[in-house]
Amino acid sequence: MNNKIVYVVGTRPELIRSALLITYLKKDPEVEFKLVHTGQHYDYLMDKVFFNEFNLPEPDINLKVGSNSHAVQTASIMVSLEKYLLSVNPDLVVVFGDTNSSLAGALVAAKLKIPLAHIEAGCREWEMDMPEEINRRLIDHCSNLLYPVSKDGKINLLKENIKGKIFNYGDPLYEVFLQNYELSKNNNVVKELSIIKKGYFLLTTHRANNVDDLVKLQNLINDLGCFNDYKVIFPIHPRTREKIKSVPSINLKNLVIIDPVNYKDILQLISNSKLVITDSGGLQKEAYWLKIPCITLRSHTAWNETVKQKVNFLSSPEKFQLKDVIYDVLNNYKSIIKRFSIIKNPYKQVETNKRIVESLKKTNAQF
Ligand code: UD1
Repeated sequence: MNNKIVYVVGTRPELIRSALLITYLKKDPEVEFKLVHTGQHYDYLMDKVFFNEFNLPEPDINLKVGSNSHAVQTASIMVSLEKYLLSVNPDLVVVFGDTNSSLAGALVAAKLKIPLAHIEAGCREWEMDMPEEINRRLIDHCSNLLYPVSKDGKINLLKENIKGKIFNYGDPLYEVFLQNYELSKNNNVVKELSIIKKGYFLLTTHRANNVDDLVKLQNLINDLGCFNDYKVIFPIHPRTREKIKSVPSINLKNLVIIDPVNYKDILQLISNSKLVITDSGGLQKEAYWLKIPCITLRSHTAWNETVKQKVNFLSSPEKFQLKDVIYDVLNNYKSIIKRFSIIKNPYKQVETNKRIVESLKKTNAQF
């Protein structure tokens, strides 16, 4: 029995995807639960807003690492987290996904010989120049318990002869999505922005490979300018806000830049949009569940199931092909929407979050 569990979070996606796991673990009378926030994300709209929205417990400790180079960020988390884990001496450390916070949590636990669980294990994009790809591979290889969110994730892990125990219980985000979607209908973001259903594209981009290169950013903006019949609603990530200042022709008539929004607002914005254009992993799946065609600004995606089902379309920023991909999707819009009615959701299982919690508690996590 793993009674004392330390759960490490640091960024917006970890908070959203972990919302139910944290809630259940915190409430569980058999678990002494400790929440560590690394402080990788710190802006109110990237962090606190989700604690309020999901009623999450205050972190037991905030390492306040903030922004820095990858080495400094990862190393700073490791130094502080090692002290904390030595003082708490948990039975299990849990990390989620592929951020620098998750990697730092995994390395510290592994070196201290504390069993490690990785939620959303087995994602692969086969692009080793992505920091997230490096992180997720390393985390998987030092994890004792691994929870891929679909069959493809499990297959990836088996191919790499991963040493830990693998459990495919489905995607915890799917249940967070289901709980919040109904509630999102009461929000007012679409009304407040004075936009009309299907009259806009929803854009998000923050991956370093996309936004750190001004040529790619400029090209993205130019391509979107070709679709003047549609507004482009762009909740902007802080990284992108910084970078976009150097793009000269940002004043497109149809581009509406807004602050990052909360989870229910983003679900309302997705569900009313004509099309989602994104490099976010979560948004690809939420668009898929809401039956909205998606263009992913990458040459690979970890959610390849959605691409194989021909409702998510890759547009590699290196190939400058976004305009053509948008035209293709708009020209085939009706048949893409039809396809949604026959495809099977590979991320859905029963009681995903509850089963993961039971497994975290009960599995002997020693190698
Ligand atoms: C990180 C994750 C990525 C995840 C994303 C979600 C890594 C390697 N990447 O990328 O997997 O999809 O979070 O958002 O861990 N900043 C702020 N305020 C904040 C947070 C960040 O201003 O609250 C700015 C900083 O100036 C920083 C930049 O955003 O330089 C990038 O932040 P960083 O923590 O490096 O990663 P993300 O790009 O957010």
